[in-house]
Amino acid sequence: MRPIELSPRLTALAQQVPENARFADIGTDHARLPVWLLEHGVISRAIAADLRSGPLDRARETARRHNVSERISFRFGDGLQPIQPDEADVIAIAGMGGETISDILLAAPWVAERDILLLLQPMTSAPKLREWLSGHCFRICGERLVQEEENLYVILTVRPGRMPELSRAELWAGCQERGMEEPLRGDYLALMIGRVKHAADGLRRSTRIEDAARLAEQATLLRELEHMKEEWDTWQM
Ligand SMILES: C[S@@+](CC[C@H](N)C(=O)[O-])C[C@H]1O[C@@H](n2cnc3c(N)ncnc32)[C@H](O)[C@@H]1O
Repeated sequence: MRPIELSPRLTALAQQVPENARFADIGTDHARLPVWLLEHGVISRAIAADLRSGPLDRARETARRHNVSERISFRFGDGLQPIQPDEADVIAIAGMGGETISDILLAAPWVAERDILLLLQPMTSAPKLREWLSGHCFRICGERLVQEEENLYVILTVRPGRMPELSRAELWAGCQERGMEEPLRGDYLALMIGRVKHAADGLRRSTRIEDAARLAEQATLLRELEHMKEEWDTWQM
């Protein structure tokens, strides 16, 4: 059997798992990520958890085909509930909405009290997830962007701790600094600008009074994001 292949998104996640991590994959579905890490000797054991039995069956099947079943502990349950606090020091929660990810963390307060590396990959609502993290004693240590077909995905590397307050534009697009290596950041900023413009267009057509205030907020956010993009483009010259 050839080693399992990963998509660019899962490859980027795998690259951030340190060697010998006690790794747990929450919402594992097909368990591709833990199976790849085991096959490549990055880790020696893993926990693969999922809320639904269908995905967990798929995870067992992948592990069986790749001969790593004995090294994966399969857990059925919601979020981090099937995991004991001392069982993992690197936890991936990937391929879900940002609000689901924050709900999972909210239900497991022990995570914020331990030296744990979180690899969070929200499919939607990344701004809400950044906001939730900054308000709940988590620190975003890094962000990585990955392109897969026409989609851009963000992976947040997060640890318990405090971080400086993020501006609204930073909640939307993450932080940037001169010299930062992120070839896809210009595209990501353009994507966020497009989304905010689209939302502002919708509000402009609205006749509801409260939408006028929201439109003003969106206009400010748009200016901040455009300024960020100009700054980023200047740094690339
Ligand atoms: C789209 S798949 C992502 C699979 C894999 N993590 C990836 O990134 O490719 C999402 C998986 O998360 C699981 N899931 C959703 N909410 C969950 C929760 N609260 N706890 C555990 N698993 C959950 C779903 O059952 C599904 O298998």
